[in-house]
Amino acid sequence: MSQAEPRLFFALWPGPAERARLVELQTRLAAPGRRIAAERLHLTLVFLGEVDRARLDTLASLAARFCLPTEALVLDRLGWFKQAGSGWLGCNQAPAVWTGLVRTLSERLIEAGFRVDGRDWVPHVTLYRNLRKAFDMITVEAVHWTPEALCLVRSERLQSGPKYTVLGRWP
Ligand code: 2AM
Repeated sequence: MSQAEPRLFFALWPGPAERARLVELQTRLAAPGRRIAAERLHLTLVFLGEVDRARLDTLASLAARFCLPTEALVLDRLGWFKQAGSGWLGCNQAPAVWTGLVRTLSERLIEAGFRVDGRDWVPHVTLYRNLRKAFDMITVEAVHWTPEALCLVRSERLQSGPKYTVLGRWP
């Protein structure tokens, strides 16, 4: 596959209210890391990596078959991926309907011949990169989020940092 193939992932993109809460939290924490810009804040469901662009239609029709759960995601804990140096806000306990959605989405993608990241899903919104110190001992007020759309997103690595483009939203 050529280098020019798009790097893709399925994600949830916050609406204005949730985004404002996340930005407020970043400001309040003022953690010693590189803050993720408001418009880049998101929660990844399934990471695909490079995908043959000829298969974008297949991804779109697969995504169109999913309905999102109406149960809110409760983002109520901070976490730190030491190796990646990322600080995030995530769920103490992800609702089973959401874990189920991610599992089914991954299964359908694999059946359709896509490669997906096989690790357990850790629902999180990355707030900081280059964070060298854990900050998960801090307690936070929960952000309740009922996402409205499943998004297919392209990630590009630019000199200025990653650029995310939402290619499609369902419903
Ligand atoms: P992160 O925020 O924890 O780094 C775009 O890169 C999105 O996909 C980010 O949310 C990133 O998670 C996630 N991501 C990047 N590489 C991944 C991988 N190999 N497996 C799962 N998620 C990945």
